[in-house]
Amino acid sequence: MIRILPLTIAERLDFYHQDHLLEGWDDLSPPQQAAFAAQLESVDFDQLTDLIAQQKSHHSTENETPAQRAYRARSPRSLVRLPRTVAEQAEWKAAEQRGEELLRAGRVGAILVAGGQGTRLGYDHPKGMYPLGPVSNAPLFQLLCEQLLARSRRAGQPIPYYIMTSDATHEETVEFFQQNRFFGLPEADVYFFQQGNMPAVDAQTGQLLLSAAGELAMSPDGHGGLLGALSAAGLLDDMRQRGVDYLYYHQVDNPLAIVCDPDYLGWHDLSGAEVSTKVIAKRSAAEKMGIAVDVDGVTQIIEYSDLPDEVAQRTTASGDLELWAGSTAIHVFSREFLERLAQGQWQLPFHIAHKAVPAYVPGEGLTTPEKPNAYKFERFVFDILPQAGQALIVEADRTREFNPLKNADGVHSPDDVRQSLVKLHREWAQAAGWEIPPTTQVEISALAALDATEFAEQVGRWIPPVKTERGWFWAMR
Ligand code: UTP
Repeated sequence: MIRILPLTIAERLDFYHQDHLLEGWDDLSPPQQAAFAAQLESVDFDQLTDLIAQQKSHHSTENETPAQRAYRARSPRSLVRLPRTVAEQAEWKAAEQRGEELLRAGRVGAILVAGGQGTRLGYDHPKGMYPLGPVSNAPLFQLLCEQLLARSRRAGQPIPYYIMTSDATHEETVEFFQQNRFFGLPEADVYFFQQGNMPAVDAQTGQLLLSAAGELAMSPDGHGGLLGALSAAGLLDDMRQRGVDYLYYHQVDNPLAIVCDPDYLGWHDLSGAEVSTKVIAKRSAAEKMGIAVDVDGVTQIIEYSDLPDEVAQRTTASGDLELWAGSTAIHVFSREFLERLAQGQWQLPFHIAHKAVPAYVPGEGLTTPEKPNAYKFERFVFDILPQAGQALIVEADRTREFNPLKNADGVHSPDDVRQSLVKLHREWAQAAGWEIPPTTQVEISALAALDATEFAEQVGRWIPPVKTERGWFWAMR
């Protein structure tokens, strides 16, 4: 039966107790067999076996779990709070000037991770295509690209955009950029690179799952796939050749992120950090955010699922949350730091998630389980922090910089994120003297202004908004 299957694969499957995958082999067409064989070849079975063993050992008492370590978490030492005094404002101003110098010197690039499957949102396309501009209906990709374009115009230098996609998002994303002429960015400054995949395994048996006949159930290997994918695509070399020393990292779902924020770049550089993370004050102990902490003197981020309630709820003498610094997933990386990790073959660890994964069984078809049935393996980019000689945590204002699109309803839903954008832009317009009816939606394109000051000085006084049925829109200067 398996005579046309390369023997080595059949032997490997047998060795790793995965020979169930050969059921139904004869029903596949020759091209399907070839594709399936190639997919099986690409699986690192040793790695999977180790990961499953690790998952089991977490349940034993020998290894300390991330949750156990979390009991020793303290507020991070290397921390810049939002300015509260005149002296602190002066420090922030100096940081901003430094960041602007870096941008004007062409030493900054941006990384966008856009490989996620967006399962909670339940949108049928890559999340970056989601129309989110409150008045313009512009997709997330456009809102972010226009910020980058405006920032690069202000600096008078190109800012290369390194966009990570996955099997789940690559084709549609690239096509979307082409159809939209790269949203005004020079095509030569936009690089797409693809992250890797990991197979899902049955949580009971450790057996790999199929998603269809002759196809393994695979999913992107997490935003932490970034490090390996950047270096495999040769992009770290490209950055060096371009003279890019600092990388502003952000995620596709947060249109409030200040793309290539000069203050933040400046703080990163002035403090000599190799990696920086922006944080905001958590709304409550229960808010589901990773938190920036020090454990045993090492700055790191603890996933909310690894944070025991009693640790999350700890308060200071004044009654504030002790571990308050929720991660916005906006980072700055020094290029040399990424290169050092890549050259040392250092790899981010995998996290294991127990998820409901639809599974295909030959002869029975596809079943979508109601409860988690499988383990998925993902790398998280923030696990890079403990590797840094110095990591810096910088505080940001939530209403200005953070509301990612995650869910179909409620908090972090399309309506919720649009409201945050409208609130921000309404404030800019009002500060510039516009009287806006209370229910009118307001949107200011990044091509018109990147911040309240620019809006007031360059736009608001002279240029009226375009008034549409959806609301008021300042499109460009
Ligand atoms: P999330 O962890 O919120 O995942 O990604 P998601 O795919 O957007 O949504 P859910 O969890 O399936 O509902 C945060 C950011 O990391 C990127 C996403 O595209 C998003 O920008 N990401 C996530 C990747 O680039 N690759 C991945 O494998 C996972």
